[in-house]
Amino acid sequence: MMEKINSLSAYFKEYENSIEDPENFWSEIAKTFQWQKTWDNTFSWNFNGPDVKWFENAKLNITENIFERNLHTHSEKTAIIWEPNDPNEKSIHISYKELFEKTCQFSNALEANGIKKGDRIIIYMPMIPEAAIAMLASARIGAVHSVVFAGFSSSALADRINDCQAKMVLTSDGNYRGAKNIEVKAVVDEALEKTNTVGKVIVCKRTGSKVQMKTGRDLWWHDVIKNQSLQHKAASLDSEDLLFILYTSGSTGKPKGVVHTTAGYMVYAQYSFLNVFQYEHDDIYWCTADIGWITGHSYIIYGPLLTGATTIMFEGVPTYPHPGRFWEIVDKYKVNQFYTAPTAIRALQAKGLEPILPYKLDSLKVIGSVGEPINEEAWHWYHDNIGKGNCPLVDTWWQTETGGIMISPLAGITPNKPAHASLPLPGVQPVILDAEGNELKGNNVEGNLCIKFPWPSMIRTTYGDHKRCKDTYFSTYPGTYFTGDGVKRDHDGYLRILGRVDDVMNVSGHRLGTAEVENAINEHSGVIESAVVGYPHEIKGQGIYAYVICSINDQAESDLIKEIIATVSKIIGPIAKPDKVQIVSGLPKTRSGKIMRRILRKVASKDFSNLGDTSTLLNPDVVEEIIEGANI
Ligand code: WT7
Repeated sequence: MMEKINSLSAYFKEYENSIEDPENFWSEIAKTFQWQKTWDNTFSWNFNGPDVKWFENAKLNITENIFERNLHTHSEKTAIIWEPNDPNEKSIHISYKELFEKTCQFSNALEANGIKKGDRIIIYMPMIPEAAIAMLASARIGAVHSVVFAGFSSSALADRINDCQAKMVLTSDGNYRGAKNIEVKAVVDEALEKTNTVGKVIVCKRTGSKVQMKTGRDLWWHDVIKNQSLQHKAASLDSEDLLFILYTSGSTGKPKGVVHTTAGYMVYAQYSFLNVFQYEHDDIYWCTADIGWITGHSYIIYGPLLTGATTIMFEGVPTYPHPGRFWEIVDKYKVNQFYTAPTAIRALQAKGLEPILPYKLDSLKVIGSVGEPINEEAWHWYHDNIGKGNCPLVDTWWQTETGGIMISPLAGITPNKPAHASLPLPGVQPVILDAEGNELKGNNVEGNLCIKFPWPSMIRTTYGDHKRCKDTYFSTYPGTYFTGDGVKRDHDGYLRILGRVDDVMNVSGHRLGTAEVENAINEHSGVIESAVVGYPHEIKGQGIYAYVICSINDQAESDLIKEIIATVSKIIGPIAKPDKVQIVSGLPKTRSGKIMRRILRKVASKDFSNLGDTSTLLNPDVVEEIIEGANI
């Protein structure tokens, strides 16, 4: 069994061991897992490839480590508690034994429908138990899942299907989100018109909505599992075989497929879950993320299930049918660890204390935050009103690419410091570099956050384009992994994440590239050029501000703006809708034609100080016009 770190001195000791002898450190942890064949070499690495391998030549299956490894100790324990969107509908408790049987049954169904090891399967589903079963069954047979958040548009879905050449899509007849019932099957149908690799679509019945079933292609979930055995022999995978692909936005181009492989991801998911949240055997753990994001992968599904935890899957949204819904669920299941995003905290904070009053919240032991920097005000509100001042708050910094939590307090062990992700987990070696790549050692320094040594769950490649992986993460500062985040090490040596330093925005904890939103805006026929920047937003963390040049047209400006916003929603999804659109006659450009985003960011943030020397611009007059017409 994996041991937990249980004191601050033990943490420092373990950290030191992990740096001095990483081979031994990680192989001791890896020994607590079930392997079909053990590794020849703990890891090898070269960040210039990048070429990183963990637990080389070992054989395993991650689902054997969730099920076979643990079933003798907790087969009757609840693995998943599913809480529906509508609180009046019945919740579902699934034991480890049942989850195992359902996973095996669906594994057999996938194989019966032609899915083989290495095939890519897209999961475009609501937060229902079948989505978890789909991920686990994919892993069991050695297929590669790529979960696409069910709020993405059909063209975003089509891009992902095409990029990974998926053979199958799993979806549902509808998706309840608050008061809405989103017709996800219709979105899949539309996406499949733009793709030609998908042979079969499996549709899970959830809402009972009427859907079109295409003969020969579309099958019902309840039909494909009929007559399938509840037993399945797990596929034998190599440590470095792909476990999943998850698409995420970068500063350029379309979203890229971050690739995670089997063994390293597995080891780190359990290790980080156990230590950060300090999970104890009978605890009820709840992470409010969606499985469409990495947080859902590592800390709703894999980390908790590998640990034998009870994990809650919530179908709905924080404010439906009332703004106390989260707290109602915490009391209903006596949740011990609660993990959510700053944007949700701020949205609930804005509703005042009244929605919290009916609830005790006394089961909570640990509260967590993830996805974006948590401002001090939200930190204190969360700590005082939800944690009642006596729950450690773990502010967990990590990324889709890191696979697991990298910098975070360990609950109840690391002294809490508001808005500080604090200290790296054992095995994680962060460095702060200045613009020239010099390491800033010591305390009271601020710069770019990089990681100089491999960790088991790190990104291996970007699917189908290894060069892009190198260019994005390993070329800015050769020899280190560049995170894209700014960071400060304070006088105590605690780390505080300052936010992105590249052209990536973080809107309500969702990652969006400015270029990606610009490309979507430019799809509107009346648009000539656009520039998008993030600006501080009270609830969302960052809002999206778009400066748009349009061809002369006689349409009312407000209609045009509405259309531009609708275009973005159609091309990416509602989460990418600009909050503000300003129609401009030009964009500030350097003589070489580069847009001066710094100026645009400042205007959008209502900061007119130090706009810098605009006289060198190709079109200095446009700055005045932009300031005058600013939508702030
Ligand atoms: C970016 C990664 C990792 C799960 C959710 C987001 C920002 C994430 C924190 C935090 C400050 C944070 C960073 C990072 N971020 N957690 N605790 N404090 N910033 O995953 O979509 O891959 O986004 O989210 O900017 O680079 P993601």
